[in-house]
Amino acid sequence: MKNSIPVLLTLLGYSYIVNATSCGCKNLRPCYEDMLNSLLDVDEDPCIENVAIGASTLIVFLQALKQFCGPAIEVHEESATYEGRRLYEVVLNTSNEVERQSKPVIMIEAGQDAGSGPVMLALFIIEQIVACEEYSEMMEQVTWVILPSTNPDGQEYLRCEMEPWYKNRRPIQNRMSYGVDITRNFDDSWSSCPVSNDIFSSHYPGPSATSENETQFISNVLAKYKQDLKAYVSLRRDGHSILYPFASKSATRTDLEYAQSVAGEIAEKINQRSGNIQWFLNSSIFDMNGEPKCGHSVDFVYNKLGIPYSYEMRVFPDTTTRILSKFQPLPKGYEASLRNGYFNGIRELYNIVVYD
Ligand SMILES: *[C@@H]1O[C@H](CO)[C@@H](O)[C@H](O)[C@H]1NC(C)=O
Ligand SMILES: *[C@@H]1O[C@H](CO)[C@@H](O)[C@H](O)[C@H]1NC(C)=O
Ligand SMILES: *[C@@H]1O[C@H](CO)[C@@H](O)[C@H](O)[C@H]1NC(C)=O
Repeated sequence: MKNSIPVLLTLLGYSYIVNATSCGCKNLRPCYEDMLNSLLDVDEDPCIENVAIGASTLIVFLQALKQFCGPAIEVHEESATYEGRRLYEVVLNTSNEVERQSKPVIMIEAGQDAGSGPVMLALFIIEQIVACEEYSEMMEQVTWVILPSTNPDGQEYLRCEMEPWYKNRRPIQNRMSYGVDITRNFDDSWSSCPVSNDIFSSHYPGPSATSENETQFISNVLAKYKQDLKAYVSLRRDGHSILYPFASKSATRTDLEYAQSVAGEIAEKINQRSGNIQWFLNSSIFDMNGEPKCGHSVDFVYNKLGIPYSYEMRVFPDTTTRILSKFQPLPKGYEASLRNGYFNGIRELYNIVVYD
């Protein structure tokens, strides 16, 4: 039955496969099609956007990608969290591009604040770039470095305990408390905000900058690619906006103008796709938060590595009202529209990096 749909469409004159398992692609890459067919046999949902995103999902998905689409994807997993979960570095790259010495690198990192939505979006971006033939140029022109889940301990804890949680799960001071806020642990103006020594605070920034395995992992990957790094996006939960530097102070410097206008262009693209649901905002991180936030990875990348396109992108606004949203029906296809809108924004960033 499964295979009769594409056959039927071919007979009707369609040149591409449109069936339930195309994962939103116009044209599936053959390796991905093989992967879907194999996974379907064991009764798994083949499209990453339809499954609950836990640590094991990530492992299964990345292993399957490597097995079927090996040449397009590299997975590094040398680093681990306190609880021993792997921190994955996924590199999407093609090797058939001989004429170019070094390709621009776009780095996308997700999950510092323990949410599942950003992790799902990062995996969706990987899926779309690897699976859809129509995006093959994105892989040829750019090396994508994607850290799909940078706080898996916090994410698992949040998923299972139903307690608000933003930090990692490292024990502090003989297990008096747990967790450091990764989003405040980077080595940029780490101590400029009034330093919170309150180990019980959900904002506890750690005993020192870059004290955490997760922070070290992200910083090391950034250092590895900094020479060709053209853009950095940190995907976070609870919002619907693209935010530019600074987080630790109000943005007034004139050299931010370009980063600001690019944020506006990205916001516009996203609003074309999902603006009917909720307006996608652009502003500085400081303005969005209404207060300084120190030790932020976007400030670190902008100031310490000199990367002008350095953004925080907040995604899936409904997660803030997890309880409320059970009672307020959201528009049909709400999640899918947002997901496609966000991917459109990432494509716009790609276009700007490659063609501007
Ligand atoms: C870093 O990860 C290793 C391996 O899981 C672990 O033994 C170590 O305690 C971690 N360190 C911190 C600060 O979490
Ligand atoms: C991507 O592929 C090109 C061409 O083979 C290669 O020169 C480059 O080192 C690769 N980049 C990464 C990050 O693997
Ligand atoms: C981006 O933000 C600026 C300043 O708030 C606003 O004027 C502009 O309309 C925004 N762009 C989009 C596409 O929303």
